[in-house]
Amino acid sequence: MNKEYLVIANWKLNMDVNNTNWWVDKFEEHFEESEAYKVAIAPSFTEIPILLNAIGEADLEEDVEVYAQDISQFEKGKYTGEVSGFQLIEHGVMGVIIGHSERRKFLGETNKAINQKIMMATEYDLKPVVCVSNFEQVEAISSILTDSIRHRIVIAYEPLEAIGSGHPDSPEHVDHVLTHIKKILGDSVPTIYGGSVDADNISDYLDSDLISGFLVGTASIKPQDFLDILDRIHEG
Ligand code: PGA
Repeated sequence: MNKEYLVIANWKLNMDVNNTNWWVDKFEEHFEESEAYKVAIAPSFTEIPILLNAIGEADLEEDVEVYAQDISQFEKGKYTGEVSGFQLIEHGVMGVIIGHSERRKFLGETNKAINQKIMMATEYDLKPVVCVSNFEQVEAISSILTDSIRHRIVIAYEPLEAIGSGHPDSPEHVDHVLTHIKKILGDSVPTIYGGSVDADNISDYLDSDLISGFLVGTASIKPQDFLDILDRIHEG
């Protein structure tokens, strides 16, 4: 199997400076390079420089990319509290999670704002990892899909009931949904799965041709849990 999975740690609002440094220390102790995965970590904005610095000190720059958990749909100007693409690339951020269901739910993020964010990320050559939980959200993305977006975008299918619940979706159902997503957006668009993925269940998803990565929340908070996931992927 020569597939390289994109495995993204979504730290959400869980880490501070100390935890970030501790996490990288522990991760570095046991991390093994593998052609089976590429790792990205998405911390809060405030932890981005801390994480990049820790990754540099641990000599992990080649192995671990840093993503943001959001990007402003606005470029520059009177938008209090926003963080723009130009600021993210200045730090060396490589990608951005867009439209996570928690943002859609708690911060009222709309398909329209999400599309603007996808375009903004693409403009700054950041990889947009766009979270969807239903086909209406996928259809909305299809309306802006230019070639340059299609070349960069990753779709993360995250069913609401599976997020943070300990009840992941079945691999069969994930495959069914990803087939449909690819019908809407095109076969070449990479599709990843997120929702209660951990070291105990990840192997169930490795037979699927349609899953090209994972978005991991809870099981990314402890470095050993995340390393165990990577091990399983390496073992195939
Ligand atoms: P979970 O979170 O792994 O805790 O289910 C995934 C996500 O929300 O991205």
